[in-house]
Amino acid sequence: MKTIIINIKELLQTGLQDQQVVAGSQMQKLPSIKNAFLLIEDHLIIDYGSMHALPKTTTDKTIDASGKTLLPTWCDSHTHLVFAGNREQEFVDRINGLSYEEIASRGGGILNSAKKLQAISEDNLYEESALRLEQVMKLGTGAIEIKSGYGLTKEAELKMLRVIKRLDNNYPITIKATFLGAHALPSEFKGRKTDYLTEVIEEILPAVAKDNLADFIDIFCEKGYFSVEDTERLLAAAANYGLVPKIHVNQFNAIGGLQAGIKYQALSVDHLEEMRTEDIEALKNSDTMPVALPSCSYFLSIPYTPARKIIDAGLPLALATDYNPGSTPSGNMNFVVATACIKMKMTPEEAINAATINGAYAMGVAKELGSISIGKKASFIITNRISSYNFLPYAFGTDCIEQVFINGEQVK
Ligand code: NIG
Ligand code: FE
Repeated sequence: MKTIIINIKELLQTGLQDQQVVAGSQMQKLPSIKNAFLLIEDHLIIDYGSMHALPKTTTDKTIDASGKTLLPTWCDSHTHLVFAGNREQEFVDRINGLSYEEIASRGGGILNSAKKLQAISEDNLYEESALRLEQVMKLGTGAIEIKSGYGLTKEAELKMLRVIKRLDNNYPITIKATFLGAHALPSEFKGRKTDYLTEVIEEILPAVAKDNLADFIDIFCEKGYFSVEDTERLLAAAANYGLVPKIHVNQFNAIGGLQAGIKYQALSVDHLEEMRTEDIEALKNSDTMPVALPSCSYFLSIPYTPARKIIDAGLPLALATDYNPGSTPSGNMNFVVATACIKMKMTPEEAINAATINGAYAMGVAKELGSISIGKKASFIITNRISSYNFLPYAFGTDCIEQVFINGEQVK
């Protein structure tokens, strides 16, 4: 099946055929073609260019995109989209003065979600998660990474990862799975953190690997959660199973987790609300993608990742949602892009690069997604009639999306 989209007002993020990362001042550039066409066959992009060079070819379907902008779908490289229930009450408790840390230390937070997750059936967990996945696909997300980490027992962690696999089998969106057994210390292990980590490494990790349930390994490296030493121990063990790190670091405190990630060749280090000069320096000598999660900063009222410092140091930056029930109950990448511009002083070009090609790199899919390139997946957003792409972050909170195609299929 061949479909051609014609008269596209502006076709964004073209080219980048073999380029998988856009860094530093290059992030200011968003290659585009005005008055363009895009030709797709089945699930792939097979041609694109100016309307002046429209090829003579027979197609099954023509879409007229006059006045509309077309861009690749968002690549959301950090989420916890599989979870049970919600944490509305903690949200209200925070409004009334409790901090995120105080709620967690009372057994709320991640442990609250773990209790709910352990209790829910696998089928119900799948249904709840599938609804969220359908929502984010309509919002233009064409690739998503999803973590475990609300199970905290072998049985419940495997349940989460099987649900992620089932979503991957049933939806056209590209999904990558991350094993985050070391997300928090379960109450049964209170005062015995080393024992829990041993359980994660010796019992759960081999089972995850045996059933091929994860692409990546993650840990919450933070004061009160897991130390740098714990992080190195886990990453060394995960390397034996070929699991590449994508880790939570520098969210509330910079304690050296970022350096541990780089040492174990992490694909990405995520959060980075607290960044020291040495953290920026460490990233310069690595292939590790820094990932900012501005909706988490927004929701928790914590500092934003210093995007300007990172980009101005010549580094790349990716943007993701962190969709989860505690710190970011939103999977809307359009809001992330707008918030990055409004609060982190990223330009629209930088934010779009960060949410497409760099996001694709941060989840290991830049060869197939993240730009409008021949041979990549036909995953793209067609906007409403907007004046320019600047309007997307400018009109924050406004739905500017008319149609979404994921892997050649129109999202209904
Ligand atoms: O990325 N920081 C650690 N994990 C999640 C939040 C977990 C929760 O509160 O449920 C995050 O923000
Ligand atoms: Fe997270």
